[in-house]
Amino acid sequence: MSGCRCRLVVTVDGPTASGKTTLARRIAEIYGLPFLDTGLLYRAVARRLLAAGRPVEDEAAAVAAARSLTPADLERPDLHAEEVSQAASRVAAIPAVRAALLDWQRAFAARPEGAVLAGRDTGTVVVPEAPVKLFVTASVEARARRRFRQLRARGERPIFARVLEELEARDRRDTERAVAPLRPAPDALVLDTTDEDVETTVAVVRRHIEAWRVRASCSSHAPREDGVQPQPRSRRASSTGTSMEYE
Ligand code: DC
Repeated sequence: MSGCRCRLVVTVDGPTASGKTTLARRIAEIYGLPFLDTGLLYRAVARRLLAAGRPVEDEAAAVAAARSLTPADLERPDLHAEEVSQAASRVAAIPAVRAALLDWQRAFAARPEGAVLAGRDTGTVVVPEAPVKLFVTASVEARARRRFRQLRARGERPIFARVLEELEARDRRDTERAVAPLRPAPDALVLDTTDEDVETTVAVVRRHIEAWRVRASCSSHAPREDGVQPQPRSRRASSTGTSMEYE
């Protein structure tokens, strides 16, 4: 990894609706770091295939889509549709698609100012040398309840049993695939958010980061008292820090 030993790179991995993206955004905001939600890359590839009417298992088309993604593809509002979610977990199981997206993610992690990346394999495959690795988890019921609330908030009329079933199906695909399966890095801090609110978990992570700085003999980063740092130019963390529900 390029840069000095005090450059802060945080990886945040975990299953669907574990709260990893909310936590990662908040950490990016507090430390003024650029944030990449790597799940959006797989979602964008899947969306392109669906839009082109191609089967999700069409490896050549999926790799071509992965190679030609643009930042605008990651901004599309329909990336979180259930159809895209299921298709994303299928394209994510294609090794050539993962390989095609790797350089891009590593370049993001190598930014001189540091970075926060969230996903499934950011601490195990993308940047295993990151100094701070987090693995966020929660019970499947708690995650299904969060997902159910998100869908309701979007005006959809989900059926809880179906949400639970789809979540379990995605978990199975993400953890059982041959390439880069979802699992904590050996040196990851594992955080269970089942009964913890966002700020309690954030406080644990801040202590963990400060402990790393002390061990590495880096000066303390001392985030602002209100927890919000001025943001760098690119890909700002979008959370305002006031929404304290896990997404
Ligand atoms: O985090 P998410 O739900 O937006 O991710 C969508 C899919 O992409 C998910 O089913 C697993 C896959 N994914 C992955 O395999 N590796 C990552 N680093 C991020 C996401």
